[in-house]
This record gives sequence, C-alpha cells and structure tokens, in this order.
Amino acid sequence: MEVIIVDRPEDAAPIVAEAYTRLLTRKPAAVLGLATGSTPLGVYAELIRRHREEGLSFAEARAFLLDEYVGLPADHPERYRAFIEREFTGHVDFEPGAVVGPDGLAEDLEAAGHAYDQAIKAAGGIDIQILGIGADGHLAFNMPMSSLASRTRLKTLTPKTRQDNARFFGGDITQVPTHCLTQGLGTIMESRHAIMLGFGRGKAQAIRECVEGAVSSHWPASILQMHPHATVVVDDDAASQLAFTGYYRATYAGKPTWQGI
Ligand code: F6R
Repeated sequence: MEVIIVDRPEDAAPIVAEAYTRLLTRKPAAVLGLATGSTPLGVYAELIRRHREEGLSFAEARAFLLDEYVGLPADHPERYRAFIEREFTGHVDFEPGAVVGPDGLAEDLEAAGHAYDQAIKAAGGIDIQILGIGADGHLAFNMPMSSLASRTRLKTLTPKTRQDNARFFGGDITQVPTHCLTQGLGTIMESRHAIMLGFGRGKAQAIRECVEGAVSSHWPASILQMHPHATVVVDDDAASQLAFTGYYRATYAGKPTWQGI
C-alpha cells in the first residue's frame, strides 16, 4: 500500500488524474470504477479539464459505479447515476451506455447484484477503482462488519452514513434511502489498481485504522492492505493520526516520476 500525503485536497487531483491519463493512453478501452460522494470531485474536475484542454479521451472506455441507492426514482437528482453524470461523465466523451451502475430499482436485488459482478467480469475487470472512505472506515457502502469477501449485494446504511449523506437531501435524513446495492469488498479487491482518497480531520481515525491498524471487518477499508496495488492519497488533516508519516513522505518524494502511482 502506498500512502501519499498532500498539503491540501486539491493537490491530490493532478496526482490521481495522471494515473488515469497514463492508463487511457496505454489502454484507451480501459474499465474505470467510479465513486460518488464529495471526495473524488476534485479528481473528476481535473479529468474534465484534461479532456477539454489536453484531449484526454474516454470514448473507448467504460465505467462501473461503486454503488447505488435502492428505491430512488429514476429521475431523482441524488441517484448515483444522475450524480456521476452531473459531476463527471456527462462532461467528457463516454459513449452512451458506457457508464453503468447497480440497478437500485430492480425487483430482484439479489439477482441484480450478481448480474453486476458478472458485467464487471465480462468487461475484463476494473483497471482503476477510485474510492472515498467513510468516517467509520466504510468502503463503497460496505459498512463496518461487512464480509471482507463480499460481492455486489444489498446493504443497509448505518444511521451515521445516512446522517452524513443528508447534506445531499436538503439536510433531511428521512429523505436518505435506508438501503443500497454496493460492490462488495471482494469485488473491489479484484480491481487492478485501487486508489482511495481521504480528506479532512473527520476521516483521520478511519485512515489510521485502515492504513496502519489490523485488517478487520470492523474497519472495512483495511482490506486494501491486502490489495496488490493500492494507493491511499490523504491530506495533512486526514493523515494527522498516522504514525509513519515521515516514511510515507520520504518514499513519495524520492519516487522516480516514470513510476507513477
Ligand atoms: C460513494 C461511496 C462512499 C463514499 C463515502 C465518503 O460512492 O461509495 O463510500 O465514498 O461515503 O463520502 P464523501 O466522499 O462524501 O465523504
């Protein structure tokens, strides 16, 4: 696991966007795993800028969302399909139908989860999976005590996560769905490169537990310690409880540019 500490959240965007640029240059038909929430927005803005100003193209790429609320109407602005289109994919050149998410309106949610895992596999697997981390260490919507081997499936959101996400629903927790379909931790672990971002003091404990603590379903993102290619990008605040910051900083500062992340 590589840990990169940046001064401010906005400093993470070019570092992560460069990994996408290298991937899409080498493999235009890449498969991207996309997170929603506020954490990756700076990266998405930088990718949009590179598309507009530097010709970065997603025309041959495909994308799979990490998760989706269950039961939000198809035209609801906070459906993750709508969110990602508004914040990222609608501003670049993905082909129609190239961006998909779990079907939170499916009648058979179990079958929908299974079909989603199959679709990722059929696409060749995810090349870069971008991830945010919850204050309780959740990854996608794999809440604490989720199976570390789980697949895409129905999960119940914790009251804390619903409270955190109420800001997207006019501050009204009663409007936040109680359930979601989420990629499992086992699904995420099959991505070829997992990039997890964490910003702000509210994420500091989760970053400490998941990066330097024991691998445990109590802190779901700790499973990334077992990933063969995981990069964690945090700002100073989110890194404030880490023990080995000197080592992380020195390692990244001494890394040859050609190596990328
Ligand atoms: C979003 C997702 C969640 C968020 C996490 C952090 O698709 O799966 O795990 O990444 O809740 O949310 P923000 O980024 O809003 O702090």
